[in-house]
Amino acid sequence: MKLIIFVWALAVAWALAVAWAIYHWPPERVASIPVEQWHSVTQPIELGSWTLRGKQECEETPKTSEWTMRRFGFEKDTFKGKTVLDIGPGPVGRLTWLDGEFIAIEPLAEQLKTLPFARLEKYHTIYAQPAEERIEELVGVVDQVMVINSLDHAFDVERILENVALYLRHGGQAMISVNVSSVDDDPYHPLQVKPSALRKLFARHGLDILREETGRCTPTEDSWGNGVTYHWWLRKSEVGKPNTSHG
Ligand SMILES: C[S@@+](CC[C@H](N)C(=O)[O-])C[C@H]1O[C@@H](n2cnc3c(N)ncnc32)[C@H](O)[C@@H]1O
Repeated sequence: MKLIIFVWALAVAWALAVAWAIYHWPPERVASIPVEQWHSVTQPIELGSWTLRGKQECEETPKTSEWTMRRFGFEKDTFKGKTVLDIGPGPVGRLTWLDGEFIAIEPLAEQLKTLPFARLEKYHTIYAQPAEERIEELVGVVDQVMVINSLDHAFDVERILENVALYLRHGGQAMISVNVSSVDDDPYHPLQVKPSALRKLFARHGLDILREETGRCTPTEDSWGNGVTYHWWLRKSEVGKPNTSHG
């Protein structure tokens, strides 16, 4: 009798495992690429592209900054006196219209600063390193994080989101705007994000979704490139992981 029950239990467990695998197939990729590839291929392409073709965008983007910031729900003085961290600002000056001096994490900062048309004057401090690396002095002190069209240029999305959640004060917010590409094997964007996987990562790291939308990035563009652009307004969960240092 015991043997029959055991065999039945085994069969049920096996059937459940098969059902789970079918339901979750194909497995969701949690976006990352090898850091060596990012260093030796992705970022050199990024820098080359800004150097050769960046002038026009660096002249145009500050002119559309007000439109884009209002579209994201921000007013000119929304962040006055606040600590705002921009991850991957590039040289374009996307936040130009907003009042305030902000901080940034931009791994290409030193090289971009040498471009005569770069617009990095908004930032009083720029950490020239990838956002996957933890910066201890930012833990628990940031009011607002911006990640505009840079998450899919990085090498490990989860490590960045983990840091974003740690940097935010309780109640702090993040604006994440990212392209879900329609192109496979794009050397400029080797890392591709999936909205469903991102939502799970937000939840895992205590970032509550306040609002989610797609499209409308600038007065003339509905996406940051190929495919659909997703925008998320997030707030650090009150019941999320406690900050390890400052309040
Ligand atoms: C397409 S640009 C986006 C520029 C700007 N945020 C905008 O609104 O247009 C992507 C930027 O992300 C930066 N980036 C790439 N990998 C990164 C990483 N691991 N951490 C932080 N920034 C990164 C690149 O150096 C580049 O400046």
